Amino acid sequence: MQPEQPVLDSLRKAVEAMPDDVPLRLHLATMLLKAGLRDEAIRQVGAILQREPGNASAMALLQEPAVPRPQEAAPQPEPSPAAGAEYDWSRAESEVGDVLPPMFVGGSSADTSGSGDREAAAFDVERSVLRLADVAGMAEVKHRLEAAFLAPMRNPELRRLYGKSLRGGLLMYGPPGCGKTFIARAVAGELGARFLPVSFADIIDMFVGQSERNIHELFSLARRSAPCVLFLDEVDAIGQKRSQLRNTPMRSAVNQLLLELDDVAASNDGVFLLAATNHPWDVDSALRRPGRFDRVLLVLPPDESAREAVFRYHLRQRPVAGVDLARLASLTEGYSGADIAHICETSAERALMDSVAQGTPRLIGQPDLEAAIGEVRPSLGPWFDTARNVALFANEGGAYDDLAAYLKKRRML
Ligand SMILES: Nc1ncnc2c1ncn2[C@@H]1O[C@H](COP(=O)(O)OP(=O)(O)OP(=O)(O)O)[C@@H](O)[C@H]1O
Ligand SMILES: [Mg+2]
Repeated sequence: MQPEQPVLDSLRKAVEAMPDDVPLRLHLATMLLKAGLRDEAIRQVGAILQREPGNASAMALLQEPAVPRPQEAAPQPEPSPAAGAEYDWSRAESEVGDVLPPMFVGGSSADTSGSGDREAAAFDVERSVLRLADVAGMAEVKHRLEAAFLAPMRNPELRRLYGKSLRGGLLMYGPPGCGKTFIARAVAGELGARFLPVSFADIIDMFVGQSERNIHELFSLARRSAPCVLFLDEVDAIGQKRSQLRNTPMRSAVNQLLLELDDVAASNDGVFLLAATNHPWDVDSALRRPGRFDRVLLVLPPDESAREAVFRYHLRQRPVAGVDLARLASLTEGYSGADIAHICETSAERALMDSVAQGTPRLIGQPDLEAAIGEVRPSLGPWFDTARNVALFANEGGAYDDLAAYLKKRRML
C-alpha cells in the first residue's frame, strides 16, 4: 500500500524541523521508497549517511527494488530506460539544497566569504571560518604553529608581553597543494582575525611603474581590518624578479615593501604576517632577515592518518556509502592534499556519470574512489627532485635540515 501524500508532506516538514533526527529521516526515506519516489528517498539516505556513515538500515534501503512511480509525482511522461539519461541533477540539487550541499560545485572555497571592504579594489579581505581542527592530520605543523605563533598571538596581554621577541612573521614552505594556504586561513580563523591573501607575483606586476603608495595602501588596509592575517603568497616571486629587474622603479617598490614589513613587525597593531612559498631557496634573503620572516615552517605532504582525514574532510558533504577511508589513505602514499581533493571530485563525477547512464541515482562508493585514485597521478615528483638537490648541495647553515631529515626518512636522500 502506498502512503498518502499528506503523510509524506508532514514527514517532510518534520524532517525539515529536525534535520538531525536520523530515525525520523529513515522513516521518511522508507515511506518515499514505498511511494515510488526513489530519487527523493535516495537523497534522504544520503543525508542519513552523512550524519551516520555506515547506518545499516539506510544502506539496506538502497537495496530495495524500485516501486513504480505514481502518476502525480511524475509531471513528465514516465521516462523510457534510455530517457533516464535526462535525470535532472541540477533540479534535484536545488531541491535538497537545505539538506545536502551541492555535490558538484567548482573549487573548494566554500570556507570563506568576502567582508565587503573593497577600498583597495585589488585586494579582498575575507572572514575565515576555517579552524585548525579543519586542517586534517599534520599534528607536528599544528604543534609548531601553536607554540610559535598562535599561543602568544591569541591573547592580547601575552602579545604585548611577547611583542618584542615575537616580531616578524612566519614563512611556510613545502610542495604545492599540501595545505599552506589552507593552514593560513585556519590560522586567521583561530585568531578570530580577518584574512587578507595577497599573491606576490600579482603585487609585483601591479606595482611595476606605479608609486609605492599602492603598497602602503595594502598595509593600511590590513591595519584597518585588524585583527588581520596578512598572507603573502608566492614570496619567491620577489627574489626572482628583483635580481632580474635591478635598478628599475620596481626596486623602490620592493624597498617600500620591506619598510612596511618592518613597520608592521615593530608595532603591535593586530596585523599578523604569514607568508608561503614552494621555493624557499628563491626567496630574497632580505625577506628572511630577523624581524621579517625569520621563522620557517615546513609543510609536508600529508601522512597516512592525515590523508585519511583529508579524504574524510572532502567526502563529508558528498553522498557516500561504504567507504573505507583507511584503505584509501594507504593507497595514496605520495599524494598531496590537493591531489586527494581532486580524487574525491573525480569519484563524484564518476558516480554522477554512472547514475546518468543507468538512469538511477546512486551514492559514491569505494570502487569509484579507487578508480579515481588510478586516474589521478600524484603531482609532487618534480618538487621533490628540486628539494633533493637543495638538501644535497645548498643546505647552507642547516637551513633545510628538517627537509633533509624528511627526505632521509623517506629514503629519497
Ligand atoms: N590538511 C588538510 N586538510 C584538509 N584539506 C587539505 C589539507 N591539506 C590540503 N588540503 C586540501 O588541499 C587543497 C590545496 O591546499 P592549499 O591550496 O592550501 O595548498 P598550498 O600548499 O597552498 O598549495 P600551493 O603551493 O599550490 O599554493 C586545499 O584547498 C584543501 O582542499
Ligand atoms: Mg597556496
